[in-house]
Amino acid sequence: MSLLITNIGELVTNAPRDAVSVASPGPFEALTDAALVLDAGHVAWTGPAAQAPSADTMADAAGRAVLPGFVDSHAHLVFAGERGAEFAARMAGQSYSAGGIRSTVAATRAASNEHLRMNLARLAAEMLAQGTTTFECKSGYGLTTADEARSLAVASEFTPEVTYLGAHVVPPEFDGNVAGYLDLVCGQMLAACAPHARWVDVFCERGAFGADEARAVLAAGEAAGLLPRIHANQLGPGPGVQVAVEAAAASADHCTFLTDADVDALASSGGTVATLLPGVEFSTRQPYPDARRLLSAGVTVAIATDCNPGSCFTSSMSFCAAIAVRDMHMTTQEAVWAATAGGAHALRRTDVGHLGVGARADLVMLDAPSHAYLAYRPGVPLVAGVWRGGQRVNDGQLRSTS
Ligand code: NIG
Ligand code: FE
Repeated sequence: MSLLITNIGELVTNAPRDAVSVASPGPFEALTDAALVLDAGHVAWTGPAAQAPSADTMADAAGRAVLPGFVDSHAHLVFAGERGAEFAARMAGQSYSAGGIRSTVAATRAASNEHLRMNLARLAAEMLAQGTTTFECKSGYGLTTADEARSLAVASEFTPEVTYLGAHVVPPEFDGNVAGYLDLVCGQMLAACAPHARWVDVFCERGAFGADEARAVLAAGEAAGLLPRIHANQLGPGPGVQVAVEAAAASADHCTFLTDADVDALASSGGTVATLLPGVEFSTRQPYPDARRLLSAGVTVAIATDCNPGSCFTSSMSFCAAIAVRDMHMTTQEAVWAATAGGAHALRRTDVGHLGVGARADLVMLDAPSHAYLAYRPGVPLVAGVWRGGQRVNDGQLRSTS
């Protein structure tokens, strides 16, 4: 059953105009007074509303904007417990450190599978309602073979973009024995986890894992068929970005403290995306990453939430895009591109992050006339409709146009 959505005030496609089919996201592109046809779960046509073909059913966007669904390429959603008091203490002056992860590890180990599943289901629904139609989900709060494997099994019920993060921190029972924990992460734990995951990640940071350890984790993951991505340069300067580029990782995430050599390495990497997570800096009061420096150097930039109970507990891509505009000086176009097409690049996905003909029909309609409203009206729930694979997935009625 095909659907024509017409009278779209602004249609962000991230795809060249008039292309017969589009193999992957292109640069930011938007049409005004546009229409879109969805058929069999994919985008079948985009163009001027006046030239729209007919379809089985029709929806009137009444001048609203339509964007590709957000692609949140970095999230830690399998956990139990919460760390609201840690956040409050931080706002009262304490600094963020990787150590807080251990409290979530204890709560996660103690939780049933059903509890972890329900917690993730709630967050996944929250994301979808806010227009996120693709998300990545990491393990990393289990840190035993059984707890990491069940975390990934639960994650894979909700998304194909599942990431093994056994190398998040060294758990307490391995205090003083980092090598022993790495043997487990690269051996028995990896063997149990690889069947449930697509990606391998490592937290390369002072207080977590060093360069050689990170290299070993990524190499072992790749040998088990997983693709590399990395937490890099979040809390201070370090080797993470260089390790990412050496490993041809799909993404180096955080990129808050970069040297010129790091920026050059990303720019000449030919495919390692810099995924910026501005909700973390918002929630930890660290300095924001220098997005302009990365963009000027030609680095591909994505924005993601990093939704997790410690450093940043937002699931809102529009909030992160708004901060990227306000505080990281990205243009509204750059921020929306980074939150859609950028995320798709960071997950090496060609079918999402754009609305070119042939793309998966994942889209979000805003109760606003243009994408700029995501930053212009920060914190306001602007999502009027979400379609995933061509299916309307929220049943909210369209509100009146602004
Ligand atoms: O991406 N950097 C490591 N992991 C998370 C934080 C996890 C936590 O504090 O629980 C992050 O910020
Ligand atoms: Fe993270």
